[in-house]
Amino acid sequence: MEYKIAVVEGDGIGPEIIASAIAVMDAVGAKHNHKFEYDFVPAGGNSIDKYGVPLTDEALERCLRSDSVLLGAVGGPKWDTLPGHLRPERALLGIRKELGLFANIRPAKLNPVLKSACPLKDEIASRGFDMVIVRELTGGMYYGERGRRQGKGGEEAFDTECYSEAEIERIARVAFDIAAKRSKRVISVDKANVLESSRLWREVVHRAAKDYPEIAVSDMLVDNAAMQLIKNPAQFDVVVTSNMFGDILSDEASQITGSIGLLPSASLGEGTRGMYEPIHGSAPDIAGKDLANPIATILSVAMMFRLSFNLDKEADEIEAAVDAVLNAGYRTRDILDNATEPLGCKAMTQKIIEYLTRPLQRT
Ligand code: IPM
Ligand code: MG
Repeated sequence: MEYKIAVVEGDGIGPEIIASAIAVMDAVGAKHNHKFEYDFVPAGGNSIDKYGVPLTDEALERCLRSDSVLLGAVGGPKWDTLPGHLRPERALLGIRKELGLFANIRPAKLNPVLKSACPLKDEIASRGFDMVIVRELTGGMYYGERGRRQGKGGEEAFDTECYSEAEIERIARVAFDIAAKRSKRVISVDKANVLESSRLWREVVHRAAKDYPEIAVSDMLVDNAAMQLIKNPAQFDVVVTSNMFGDILSDEASQITGSIGLLPSASLGEGTRGMYEPIHGSAPDIAGKDLANPIATILSVAMMFRLSFNLDKEADEIEAAVDAVLNAGYRTRDILDNATEPLGCKAMTQKIIEYLTRPLQRT
């Protein structure tokens, strides 16, 4: 099959981790006879430097014309002082909104061989965890009315959290569908003891849940969820939450897997086209030094294969290769335990490709 992928390298470590992802895709393509065509689309800081805006209409058009978008990371200190509408992050928000990618899927699981990289107490880490955070991605405070005005205390600034029933219902259904294929438990996270938008969230989630009698739905307040994630992460399976809460909780969840450099994500809408990206940022401090962990981006490719292209076998192979490399003791610097020498971004990628393409071992 042939697939057209819009590739946003972005800024910082973006180009390095994208090069890793492309090397892996090419290896899968050669092995399974698929053709991946890459359209390199400028977005983020590099687009600001070249075109004065984080996302041009043309760049957006090219994303819309692709079968899926693969994104490295955008942003960096160079563009930190620009006004909000010109910041590199706007590119990400623009693509999410314009492609209608309302469902952000962020799996976080503790690989037993990385237990020593998990900052939690051994007795907690030993129980392991395997959760999927389903984050609403095109609504809430990220897109609500915002502004500045003069008030009694001087200048004021505001951002509005607003959710419609339709927005809540469709993300709840995504979470229920995912849970139906897992442990059939969903925890919906909100702040219904304070926020009206959360009270509507809770009502709509439970109303929609009536169509899924096999799924057990419970609620958790976001402050408690932040606490429970480090106290007892094993209790979580599918978590559904708003854009803002999901942003924060998914970073927390990533940290307890050992490194933010390990976690992929998928952003999906109504159709098959998605955007796939590591959940980490552009890490300007290590950019260009071959130090980045490519695993989150490589696993994002696996998610793209599975969720947008229906290439389940190819996705399984990528995930198995990553597991095999980790099981064999290879580590990048961020997940290093004392015993091993770290691999750089390129060497780690080569290792994964080596495992991906090696002939099946006879037993
Ligand atoms: C993420 C990031 C983005 C977000 C930023 C870069 C705009 O933190 O994908 O989690 O807040 O959504
Ligand atoms: Mg974030």
